[in-house]
Amino acid sequence: MATRRPLVAANWKMAGSLQLAQELIQKFSRISGGSPDVVLCPPSVYLDNIQRKLEAASQTLSGCSLHLGGQNLSHQEFGAYTGEISGGMLKEFGCKYVIIGHSERRRMYGETSDMVAEKFAMAQKMGLTPILCVGESLAARQANRTFEVLAGELDAVLDKVGIMAFDNAVLAYEPLWAIGTGKSATPEQAQEVHAYLRQRLSALSPYEGEKIRILYGGSVKPSNAADLFTQPDVDGGLVGGASLNASEFVTLCRIAS
Ligand code: G3P
Repeated sequence: MATRRPLVAANWKMAGSLQLAQELIQKFSRISGGSPDVVLCPPSVYLDNIQRKLEAASQTLSGCSLHLGGQNLSHQEFGAYTGEISGGMLKEFGCKYVIIGHSERRRMYGETSDMVAEKFAMAQKMGLTPILCVGESLAARQANRTFEVLAGELDAVLDKVGIMAFDNAVLAYEPLWAIGTGKSATPEQAQEVHAYLRQRLSALSPYEGEKIRILYGGSVKPSNAADLFTQPDVDGGLVGGASLNASEFVTLCRIAS
C-alpha cells in the first residue's frame, strides 16, 4: 500500500488579502514537527508579493512544505487572450500547482470538460502540477448519477492526456452541493467517491491509482476535518472558506499531517 503524503490546498477564490498571507506565513513559521504539503492559491495579482514574502521567510519556514498555486490558467500558451493568464506566467511567479476545472469555472464561465482537459495538458506542458476538480450537483446525486458525472469529467481528461499524465497530478472531489454551504459530504460519502475515483484510475494503472492524491473539498473546517482526512482514500483537502482564516487553515493542516 503506497503512503501518500497529505496535501492541503487553500483556494482563496476572489477573496483574501496580503495581510492574510502575512498572517499565514507567520503561523506556518511557528510550525515544527511535520506538516502536510500545503498549497496557497490566492488571486493571481497577489502571487508576486506572496512569493517574495515566502522567500523572505524561507529560513523560518524550513519545517513546512509550503507552495504557491494558481486558481486557473489559459489553455493557450500566449497571445491575444485579454484577461487570461498563462501557465508560463504562473510558473514565473513561483507557482508549482494550478487548480483546473473548479465547478465555479465550469458553471459560471462555461468551461467544458474538453476545455478542462486542454488546460490540464497545458499546465503540465508548462511544468505545473494540475489539481483537477470533479464533482456532481445535488440533482445528479439525487438521481443516482454521481458516478456517471464523475466518470464523464475524469474520462474527458484521461482521453486527452492518458493515465501516465496522472503521475504528476492531484485529483480533488468537490461535490457542488457541499461548496460554500456549510454542509460537507459525510466521511462515508467522501470515502465512497474517492475509492471509486481511485479504482477508476487503478483499472488503467494500478501504480498511478495507488499513488495519486485525492483531496476532498466542500465545507471542510476544523470540526469535520479529522473525520474526513482519516478516510483511507482521502489524502487531504481543497479548502475555500476556512482557508481565509489563518488560524483555522493552520489547524486544518495540523489535522492533515
Ligand atoms: O475549492 C474549494 C472549494 O470550492 C470549497 O469551498 O468554501 O466550501 O471550503 P468551501
